[in-house]
Amino acid sequence: MRRVALIVVMTLLAGMLTALLALIYNLPLDTRDPAPVQPLAFSHSLHAGDYRIACRYCHRGVEISRTAGIPPLATCQACHLHIASDRPEIVKLLDQMKREEPVEWVKVYDLPEHVYFPHMMHLRAQLDCALCHGDVAGMERITRSVELKMGWCLGCHREHLASIDCWTCHI
Ligand code: HEC
Ligand code: HEC
Ligand code: HEC
Ligand code: HEC
Ligand code: HEC
Repeated sequence: MRRVALIVVMTLLAGMLTALLALIYNLPLDTRDPAPVQPLAFSHSLHAGDYRIACRYCHRGVEISRTAGIPPLATCQACHLHIASDRPEIVKLLDQMKREEPVEWVKVYDLPEHVYFPHMMHLRAQLDCALCHGDVAGMERITRSVELKMGWCLGCHREHLASIDCWTCHI
């Protein structure tokens, strides 16, 4: 009798543990607005699409560091002192530059503190930006293109035989 009860309890506990793990595995990383309105109407489809400015021209960190980085206004100013400098959004940009006020861009992709994600390792493995960020060169406004979950990272790591040890991403 006691043995049957024990088995029932153990089965229930195992079931709960599995459910908990499944929950964590599928938990979305990021539940905020997938396409937030930005303080300046910067268009990727115009700059990276129509004018074919390379991603790396603005996101300079991407191959050498953990973060891709958002370009400082000086990068924009290099062109916009001369290009379209009379348009309202550019006047706003140059004015902000003069006042040395950084633009408060709203983050679109943002992992929790306890997760380590190095861009350079992924670029060294020849993965394209579009695999994780979608067709950015076609986007007027950046839209989060994948539902970032732990299972998403693990799925691709399995496929590419990259590490799936817990401490690879949790340090
Ligand atoms: C002329 C500079 C410039 C170029 C070229 C550029 N970007 Fe950006 N990128 C920005 C700026 C500024 C932001 C922040 C504002 C925004 O989200 O639109 C940004 C934001 C992003 C974000 C969202 C960051 C976040 O999580 O908030 C991604 C992803 C991104 N860029 C990818 C790319 C890719 C991929 C390319 C090439 C196809 C590219 N960018 C080309 C300037 C640029
Ligand atoms: C390599 C040159 C270059 C860089 C760097 C650059 N832009 Fe541009 N940008 C352009 C060109 C070219 C246009 C199209 C101008 C036109 O329509 O005649 C443009 C257009 C724009 C417009 C639309 C203007 C309008 O209302 O018609 C905005 C806003 C803008 N850029 C913001 C930015 C911001 C913010 C950055 C920095 C993150 C930036 N640009 C960096 C070349 C550049
Ligand atoms: C394997 C997937 C993957 C690839 C490939 C990738 N990214 Fe990312 N990117 C991410 C993740 C995940 C984040 C969120 C990182 C964080 O919050 O720590 C991110 C964040 C960003 C950001 C926001 C600023 C930052 O550095 O956190 C920019 C900009 C960006 N990526 C641009 C790019 C560009 C440009 C490329 C290609 C040259 C690229 N990414 C390739 C997954 C990827
Ligand atoms: C599209 C496929 C893909 C996705 C999605 C992806 N990765 Fe990776 N990741 C790789 C590959 C391939 C490597 C390179 C392995 C190597 O070079 O040994 C790698 C390497 C890493 C490394 C370095 C591993 C080491 O051995 O030092 C970390 C950390 C990492 N990824 C974290 C993440 C996190 C966190 C996410 C999700 C937010 C993620 N990755 C999503 C494919 C991916
Ligand atoms: C390839 C990268 C990667 C590996 C390997 C990985 N994780 Fe994660 N893990 C993530 C990401 C990304 C998240 C963020 C999910 C979220 O917070 O919604 C996460 C979230 C978690 C959480 C939830 C924390 C929270 O924010 O609520 C736990 C618990 C966890 N992982 C445990 C583990 C364990 C245990 C292992 C080893 C079996 C492991 N992870 C291996 C990427 C990874």
